[in-house]
Amino acid sequence: MGLYKLKKINGEKVLIYNNKKIIVLIDEKQLKKRVKELGQGITKDYEDKNPVLVSVLRGSFIFVADICREIKIPVTFDFMAVSSYGDSKVSSGIVRITKDLEFSIENKEVIIIEDIIDSGRTLNYLIKNLQARNPKNVEVCALLDKDVPRKTGNKIKYKGFDIPNKFVVGYGLDFAEKYRNFPFVGYIENE
Ligand code: IMP
Ligand code: MG
Repeated sequence: MGLYKLKKINGEKVLIYNNKKIIVLIDEKQLKKRVKELGQGITKDYEDKNPVLVSVLRGSFIFVADICREIKIPVTFDFMAVSSYGDSKVSSGIVRITKDLEFSIENKEVIIIEDIIDSGRTLNYLIKNLQARNPKNVEVCALLDKDVPRKTGNKIKYKGFDIPNKFVVGYGLDFAEKYRNFPFVGYIENE
């Protein structure tokens, strides 16, 4: 059957699907709690401001939808899409804008909403690209920070979770466009 069903095996939450075992790393409850905390942090720091949430498609569509409802100040939204992976699990290193912002960010407070930082290449590119448009400032909110050695310093002001260096799916994140609708973050065993 094509239904997604969670099971508990040896204390681990897993989802068996198409003979694949998907192991839950961060469950729905943990996500909800942490996203709420991040939203509260942004609310506090941006009191009296009207930041633009720049969501990076497609991976952050669920995260931005959830966090924005925990931010209790006026915000506006814009969306960008970049491509660095194609259908592969390894970053190509070349970042390409496939959809640009609709609005000017000149003199605006910008918060980039990202799903996950892996090599950091996409984020570096985005920050440089947005800085060149003369915003008031640019901060980063990322749900997941992978344990990967990076030369560049930590640019994530609002971080959800540190995770091991595994390829994860769910809560917006995909593998070849699949699994984005899992309500948790997990990884596929043996892949
Ligand atoms: P980076 O440029 O290597 O930091 O990769 C960042 C982008 O690659 C993220 O915004 C994701 O879209 C994608 N990505 C990186 N790691 C994963 C993963 O584990 N699962 C799904 N997508 C990922
Ligand atoms: Mg992304």
